[in-house]
Amino acid sequence: MKKYQLVAPCLMGVEKLLSNELKFMGAENVKADNGRVFFQGGADIIARANICSRIAERILILCGRFDAVTFDSLFNGVKKINWGEYLPKNAGCHVVGSCLSSQLKSVPDCQKIIKKAVVESMKEYYNIKGRLSEDGIVYKIRFLLLKDNVCIMLDTTGEPLHKRGYRANANTAPLKETLSASIVEIAKVRKNHIVIDPFCGSGTLVIESAQKALNIAPGINRKFVSEDWHIISDEIWKSERQKARNAVRTDSQFHGIGYDIDDSALEIARENARKAGVADYVSFKKRDIRDFSENYERATIVCNPPYGERLLDIAQAEELYKIMGEKFVEKDGYSYHILCPDDDFEKCFGRRASKRRKLYNGMISCQLYIY
Ligand SMILES: C[S@@+](CC[C@H](N)C(=O)[O-])C[C@H]1O[C@@H](n2cnc3c(N)ncnc32)[C@H](O)[C@@H]1O
Repeated sequence: MKKYQLVAPCLMGVEKLLSNELKFMGAENVKADNGRVFFQGGADIIARANICSRIAERILILCGRFDAVTFDSLFNGVKKINWGEYLPKNAGCHVVGSCLSSQLKSVPDCQKIIKKAVVESMKEYYNIKGRLSEDGIVYKIRFLLLKDNVCIMLDTTGEPLHKRGYRANANTAPLKETLSASIVEIAKVRKNHIVIDPFCGSGTLVIESAQKALNIAPGINRKFVSEDWHIISDEIWKSERQKARNAVRTDSQFHGIGYDIDDSALEIARENARKAGVADYVSFKKRDIRDFSENYERATIVCNPPYGERLLDIAQAEELYKIMGEKFVEKDGYSYHILCPDDDFEKCFGRRASKRRKLYNGMISCQLYIY
């Protein structure tokens, strides 16, 4: 099977987790970089990574990587790529990307040059004199120009991987599914765990925990753009989906519990859990953090409490952190994982975390405080 150079973008701070996930799937030459992981694999790995990765944002084929400080060098580098190997004769292509800390700064100009170079390369490959018909599948080419080095990539995913398909509804501040899955991974959620989120909102952390515990692949029920490509056969997609279905655990004693004070958020969480196929393993109940107390022998607590944005709200949020410090008591078998951007969190909580991990919630720099 042909091996591809691949790259998976991810949230900053979770590169190592994603590397391990990809290695576990059978990816080769896995190398973590800032906000992305490079790896190699055949068409089966492309399908598997799309279906099974909880942490990657997308799976991209790295078609070329070279230095470019002029539009000519960008054009020549892109034209050199053998596009006919990836794109059929009638393919259309749409170019998107970004330029960071590079001499070439204009994204629209780079888009135009890249598109022109792809068309020229295709015309040579298919020996076409006039215009390409471009009436077939539209392929999305992504480029990243970083410090004058450009990666030219073909998007195999389409809708980003954090769109699992279970969260049509969300409350005002839902946590991204890929960030939730990363926290679940750091918290080492396993098949027989009790996981509790005392600020569950739309239930993302509880649902991602359940899917992890039950080994439900997050992309099992969604479509990917490369399902229509000739380079990944229908048999491969069928076989990878079947493997993912066979791997779902039926012997799990997992239970996930979400609490919140907002009835409408709890309704949304229940609906999301149903769509995610984990409704039998989770429950959502109305409870204020002030009434939090648990009698389970062991439990893993994961949450992102309200942050507070305006001054008064920050004071209220910090009051909640103080209450959390009183309620989240230290006891054997209990661990707490709290995502928060507030530098004074530990002071308000009343204890220093045994570990901290820097994570990004969108553009907001946060710490995952682990107790
Ligand atoms: C940042 S959101 C959590 C989002 C959630 N992780 C998700 O993915 O949807 C914080 C949640 O805390 C809830 N909340 C605020 N004050 C609370 C309290 N005193 N006790 C319990 N929940 C509270 C809010 O209703 C909100 O849903």
